Amino acid sequence: MDQTNTLPVSPAAEPSHDQIQALLDELKPCPDGNLIGLLQQLQDHFGYLPAPALVQISRRTRIPLSRIYGVVSFYAQFYTSPRGRHTIRCCRGTACYVRGGRMVINAIRKNLGIDDGQTTEDMMFTFETVACLGACALSPVVMVDSTYIGKATPRRIDSVLKSIKAEGSISQERQ
Ligand code: FES
Repeated sequence: MDQTNTLPVSPAAEPSHDQIQALLDELKPCPDGNLIGLLQQLQDHFGYLPAPALVQISRRTRIPLSRIYGVVSFYAQFYTSPRGRHTIRCCRGTACYVRGGRMVINAIRKNLGIDDGQTTEDMMFTFETVACLGACALSPVVMVDSTYIGKATPRRIDSVLKSIKAEGSISQERQ
């Protein structure tokens, strides 16, 4: 097997048929295997779950495609379309809303030029709002990848996004 086929692909790239085959050859899906674990590995590699890969898994494992899609849609961790390198999650819950969460959401939309559920054209950011991030005491709350930013303000979020665009990571103090 050509090793270059198994290297992680850029989030912007659609994986080729050969890349999918190479990865599945490596992961060896089987009817008795752990489907969720397999899907996680696939997503770790491609950044999302490409439809042709799900078809291939169905063929190789003989698990009906409808069941595979049932699992994929049940778990919020799985994505069926390409995602940005960074995920910005903003809480739209009540505690955050009453403390200015709406303004923060609008600031993110304006800064990135995208709406809830969308990804920037350069595949840098995916933005989504969620019902609660489980950190209501810190409201309004934004999560950048796995980092919580509490007591968020439009100005602070602009600064965080600016640092990510410039350096690829969050460099400012947060919480
Ligand atoms: S309501 Fe925003 S974190 Fe809970």
